[in-house]
Amino acid sequence: MRYFVVSENIKEAENVNTLIFNDDINIIPGQFIMAWVPGVNQIPLSFSSVRNPKSITVKIYGEASAKLANLKPGEKIFYEGPYGNGFNIVKGKKLVIGAGSGIAPLIPLLDSDTTGIISGKSSGDIILSSKFNPRTLKIVTDDGSAGEKGFATEALKKMNIDDFEMIYVCGPEIMLKSVFDYVKNKGVNCQFSLERSMKCGIGICDSCSINGYQVCRDGPVFTLGQLKGMDEFGRTKLSYSGKRIFF
Ligand SMILES: Cc1cc2nc3c(=O)[nH]c(=O)nc-3n(C[C@H](O)[C@H](O)[C@H](O)COP(=O)(O)OP(=O)(O)OC[C@H]3O[C@@H](n4cnc5c(N)ncnc54)[C@H](O)[C@@H]3O)c2cc1C
Ligand code: FES
Repeated sequence: MRYFVVSENIKEAENVNTLIFNDDINIIPGQFIMAWVPGVNQIPLSFSSVRNPKSITVKIYGEASAKLANLKPGEKIFYEGPYGNGFNIVKGKKLVIGAGSGIAPLIPLLDSDTTGIISGKSSGDIILSSKFNPRTLKIVTDDGSAGEKGFATEALKKMNIDDFEMIYVCGPEIMLKSVFDYVKNKGVNCQFSLERSMKCGIGICDSCSINGYQVCRDGPVFTLGQLKGMDEFGRTKLSYSGKRIFF
């Protein structure tokens, strides 16, 4: 199994760490690895930097993410991949919208033409904001403890979205659906990175399925047009144990 050697571990927030490493692997922004945590599980993680020094930014939810987030310099991130299609990168003005750890795979898309919206439940969930030009960044939190009080879609509604060549969105599916519902008939170009339960990462187990697509193999990035044809989007998904659950 391949591995990255951690050179630095940066604490981004109470339960979020960025692991830095150098490696000559080629990665398209938005692609992910299945990171193997011996004796625990393997979990999908995307890259918050795709050029050396590369990085992954890990939010702690359970045992696997906790073990990874606490790796020390010199320790190894075992992985398979990179997997998935990644974002289609366009020239011109872009808007990235990320919620919570969903901002991580959007960071490699940033350039001088990028506007950002970062959303989170509260100030502790706002990460990687220092990567943005503060003049073109909007922060929103559910409780108003950082930036403006409200949701990402409310910040989006205050922008002239016709200004943007492409809108890139990543975060919990409920947030993706809210953005999708707002933009779907507005004639803008949009790409959404979906987070679904993943066990294999290579199209075998079907745990990440949505309307006949497998998010690990056909995604995780889907266009607005693709999502328009998926009635499961924002409505239902499979839990890790395979049970169908509703949002
Ligand atoms: C394509 C893809 C890319 C991803 N990239 C990143 C990334 O760059 N950085 C990152 O931090 N995470 C990323 N994730 C999410 C990450 O894979 C999960 O957070 C991880 O699998 C959690 O594993 P665990 O074993 O630590 O927690 P588990 O034991 O699986 O979960 C513990 C508890 O937390 C809940 N939980 C787990 N993950 C999430 C979540 N994402 N949102 C809300 N609740 C959750 C579970 O339902 C459970 O109740 C990505 C997911 C996908 C599908
Ligand atoms: S994670 Fe197994 S098919 Fe997608």
